[in-house]
Amino acid sequence: MKVPLLDLKAQYRSLKNEIDAGIHRVLESQACILGPEVLTFEQQINGMVAPAKSLAISSGTDALLIALMALDIGTGDEVIMPPFTFFATAAVVLRVGAKPVFVDVEEDSFNINPTLIESAITSRTKAIMPVHLFGQCADMERINAIAKKHHLKVIEDAAQALGATRNGHPAGAMSDIGCVSFYPTKNLGAMGEAGLVMTADPELFEKLRILRNQGMEPVYQHHYVGGNFRMDAFQGVVLGVKFPHLAAWNRKRAEHAAHYNQLFQNSAAITPHVMSGNTHIYHQYTIRVPQRDSLKTHLGDKGIATGIYYPIPLHRQPCMSHLGLDPNACPVSNRLAGEVLSLPIYPELSSEQVEYVGRNILEFLKTV
Ligand SMILES: Cc1ncc(COP(=O)(O)O)c(C=O)c1O
Repeated sequence: MKVPLLDLKAQYRSLKNEIDAGIHRVLESQACILGPEVLTFEQQINGMVAPAKSLAISSGTDALLIALMALDIGTGDEVIMPPFTFFATAAVVLRVGAKPVFVDVEEDSFNINPTLIESAITSRTKAIMPVHLFGQCADMERINAIAKKHHLKVIEDAAQALGATRNGHPAGAMSDIGCVSFYPTKNLGAMGEAGLVMTADPELFEKLRILRNQGMEPVYQHHYVGGNFRMDAFQGVVLGVKFPHLAAWNRKRAEHAAHYNQLFQNSAAITPHVMSGNTHIYHQYTIRVPQRDSLKTHLGDKGIATGIYYPIPLHRQPCMSHLGLDPNACPVSNRLAGEVLSLPIYPELSSEQVEYVGRNILEFLKTV
């Protein structure tokens, strides 16, 4: 049996008629950037994240970048974030001339450890950037309380978590600005590059809106040095067609996760832990095993694809060397990097495939 990590073709096939018709509409209209398709999609998202309002952006990376620009974070500023995340979270901070300050993660949630944040705050700290890794929210109540006490901004990297909630609040809508990615492999995936920012602050919303289009309003009057952060209409179509299915897709992922959990009961595999108050959308189903690399090879031999997110924490990345960071700092992130393995999880996965993955993992674990 073959089990890919993801099956995007199956999802496209199920929505082909609607997507093709929408793409055709855009081709006929030649309104290829922003426009009514993107506006409709923004309104769909607004229904989920109200009172926050959303703005469609060119990518998740650009969403994080424009959030920093809107909050005037730049040279000399520090931004606190976890090192156990995708590179873009820190890259955008470096790109605006600020410095990422890495705070280790919790072993069970994989998210930034709030108890370690305050000791990382200096007079230069401007913001905290928690990441809702793998589809589960960070502890936003504690993070927001620390931010309030120290007059810091909070930007949620909700790239992997659209549709997740924490104590009833939607991921991305619990801070100053939330940022989402629609990279094709995300739970809500575009067919190209796309992202989104959301905020409940009307002034910030206006600034983000103007920054998205070269800081320009009206035409050729530039209030800020913005960028071209606009989403194209083709992505608006795809996302607009897919969005009504997101909640059901996320439930299907959670069903598969429950199935995996049940298979791995009483085994040496450490399964994902859902923190109290969270609904997890399982962008990844990530287990921990000390023999991770040989398990990955074993599963590959059996036709099962797996992923390692992330093999090198950001404080150990070559391009961060100028920051002079201790490679042994953030020991939890360092340990997780050597132990995590993400298994196939997507709505179209069958329970036979889940059984097959589970059986092969259990067989491997018996031999070590
Ligand atoms: C945690 C995290 N942050 C940021 C990004 C960047 O998003 P994008 O690839 O859409 O630029 C991603 C996705 O790839 C991500 O997983």
